[in-house]
Amino acid sequence: MAESPSQTATYPPFDMVILGASGFTGKYVVREALKFLNAPSSPLRSLALAGRSPARLSSALEWAAQPGPPPSEIAILTADATDPESLGRLCSQTKVILNCVGPFRFYGEPVVAACVEIGCDYLDICGEPEFMERMEAKYHAKAVETGSLVISACGFDSIPAELGFTFNSRQWTEPAVVNRVEAYLSLESQKRIIGNFGTYESAVHGVANVDKLQELRRSRPRRSRPTIPGPPPHGPTIENQKKVGLWAVKLPSADPAVVRRTLSMLADNPQGIPGVREGLQQCEKRQAFWSTVKPAHFGLKIGSKSMLGFLRMITVGIFIGALGGTAIGRWLLLKFPSVFSLGWFKKKGPSEEEVRSASFKMWFIGQGYSNGELAMERNATPDTEIMTRVTGPEIGYLTTSIILVQCGLTLLSQRDNLPKGGTFPPGIVFGPTDLQERLQKNGISFDVISKISLPVE
Ligand SMILES: NC(=O)c1ccc[n+]([C@@H]2O[C@H](COP(=O)([O-])OP(=O)(O)OC[C@H]3O[C@@H](n4cnc5c(N)ncnc54)[C@H](OP(=O)(O)O)[C@@H]3O)[C@@H](O)[C@H]2O)c1
Repeated sequence: MAESPSQTATYPPFDMVILGASGFTGKYVVREALKFLNAPSSPLRSLALAGRSPARLSSALEWAAQPGPPPSEIAILTADATDPESLGRLCSQTKVILNCVGPFRFYGEPVVAACVEIGCDYLDICGEPEFMERMEAKYHAKAVETGSLVISACGFDSIPAELGFTFNSRQWTEPAVVNRVEAYLSLESQKRIIGNFGTYESAVHGVANVDKLQELRRSRPRRSRPTIPGPPPHGPTIENQKKVGLWAVKLPSADPAVVRRTLSMLADNPQGIPGVREGLQQCEKRQAFWSTVKPAHFGLKIGSKSMLGFLRMITVGIFIGALGGTAIGRWLLLKFPSVFSLGWFKKKGPSEEEVRSASFKMWFIGQGYSNGELAMERNATPDTEIMTRVTGPEIGYLTTSIILVQCGLTLLSQRDNLPKGGTFPPGIVFGPTDLQERLQKNGISFDVISKISLPVE
């Protein structure tokens, strides 16, 4: 293994550091990153793994490099999220940190604080809206000043939702306008669908702290609201969505809040956010991109093809919702994850085979008007529907790793075209880049399924 370079280096010796590389998700992120290390035309020329235990990091690297030997040029750095000094040292050694240490509400803030202080960039796979919005409230101004780009939700939460929404909204060409986009998530597998304890733990604490999120939002200035043609939709919480063959229920994930933040930033910056050193051509490209994105109401449901699978989802939701609010309830949920998630989450996570055999489909049903003028009518009912779909491999470890690594590579190769610094949702930063094409090349597809006229009574 290479020795850790000294902190006194004038230029960061590493392009990228994966923090929490020894975790269940972290080791998949390492495996994905290795595919691009020193590959032709890849901007990733140097990589380090960081965490509390050099031994656990080394075994993660060994696992990730299989069937080959671990590459000798990868450094192992010691850093603890509870030790700001170690984080300061880490941040001064890299251009970007990919943070896989969660729950983020417990471990994330010192990492963001250190990146913002030093001015290095930060990406994570957080799915906790309270953490993201708290970091925005506390660190945005300083991050703008120091030139640190802080972007959470660069995993399955919430890039498929952000780019999937944008993809649907861009299919609406004048004079048609979109009013709402409802996403339906379907998880599929030839084996069992299993998640690791880390995600379950973050979800349980998310439920426990839902009032903190409301409190934070009340304490902040109201966000700008985009202008959306037509009245707001009033959809059901539970539905049998025959168009995609799913029984579906509203999913309390971070996605809708993240998409709303992007749309709110777009309302304030209709041409997007200028890159720190972007040229005229890139400036025109960015403006042209955002001129084709139309804001709409956005919702997310999770669905199952079978009634039994659907009832299972509702039961798990009820367990977490009912027990997550009290200390004893949380203790029970976290002590017996398999019992209360009806087998969906395990302390040891899924086997490699279970990960390999899983996949997802996320359908986006956009409804709107064939002509914007129709939206002005009282109680206007949508007369047009555009259905698009994002598909990919298993969500938690494969899709999340692909996305996080591609966000990191986009950042390394196009840093001049991205904002100087600040805390942002991923859509507003990566929307006009080639991230969607990159994901497509790496197994995550974006497709237009249908464009139809709806019967209007
Ligand atoms: N966005 C998405 O779609 C998505 C997908 C997957 C996971 N996630 C999120 O990612 C997070 C991690 O999940 P996971 O299943 O990978 O959890 P995990 O297996 O428990 O991994 C946690 C990692 O954090 C490290 N860690 C813990 N405390 C630390 C500290 N004080 N300082 C430095 N490192 C520390 C652990 O290192 P040690 O080896 O030292 O214990 C380990 O590497 C969760 O919040 C989860 O919700 C999000």
